[in-house]
Amino acid sequence: MMISLVVAASENNAIGQDNSLLWKLPNDMKFFKNLTWGMPVIMGRKTFASMASKPLPGRINIVISRNPEVLPIQENVWPANTLEHALELARSSDCLEAFVIGGGEIYKQCIAIADRIYMTRVHARYPDADTFFPAIDDSLFRIENAIDMSADEKHAQAYRFETWQRVGHTTL
Ligand SMILES: NC(=O)c1ccc[n+]([C@@H]2O[C@H](COP(=O)([O-])OP(=O)(O)OC[C@H]3O[C@@H](n4cnc5c(N)ncnc54)[C@H](OP(=O)(O)O)[C@@H]3O)[C@@H](O)[C@H]2O)c1
Repeated sequence: MMISLVVAASENNAIGQDNSLLWKLPNDMKFFKNLTWGMPVIMGRKTFASMASKPLPGRINIVISRNPEVLPIQENVWPANTLEHALELARSSDCLEAFVIGGGEIYKQCIAIADRIYMTRVHARYPDADTFFPAIDDSLFRIENAIDMSADEKHAQAYRFETWQRVGHTTL
């Protein structure tokens, strides 16, 4: 099973503030939905809380917490009490790829084991953000695909879809 991180981060690697996202990019939401549909998504308890503790439809939502018993019992929500447990649950789904979807704490722990990073780079800076994506080491990951997107009436910021692949790993 491939482990992929999916993230939208600003030029200064900001990803969130006050347990919310920093921008509205409808095309990025569409990209995220198409990419992850039908697949296991792994997230931290705070990211799950930021979605009003409602699972993403059409996906297996694996939520990591040191106290998973506090998570509401819901269809398509699989609680995990460690990262290893979350990965084991994702593997049990028999999917070829699992998507780690945040937040900052979970990305920091998973970047070491990631095969691929789907990075939406938002061309803006958020110095007041409180949650960040770790720097990508470009000796370990290489960009294999990038698409530049301009700002428009629905997207206040320009952004870029980048796919980073771990050096030495082949694509699916
Ligand atoms: N821009 C993006 O792409 C993106 C994506 C996702 C989220 N975000 C943003 O990121 C922010 C949330 O990120 P965050 O770093 O504050 O929190 P987080 O990573 O979503 O969740 C942290 C929580 O996960 C649990 N956890 C972490 N490591 C664990 C481990 N090894 N074993 C068991 N449980 C573990 C703990 O839950 P307990 O406290 O319950 O033990 C911890 O408090 C929000 O602002 C959100 O909007 C942005």
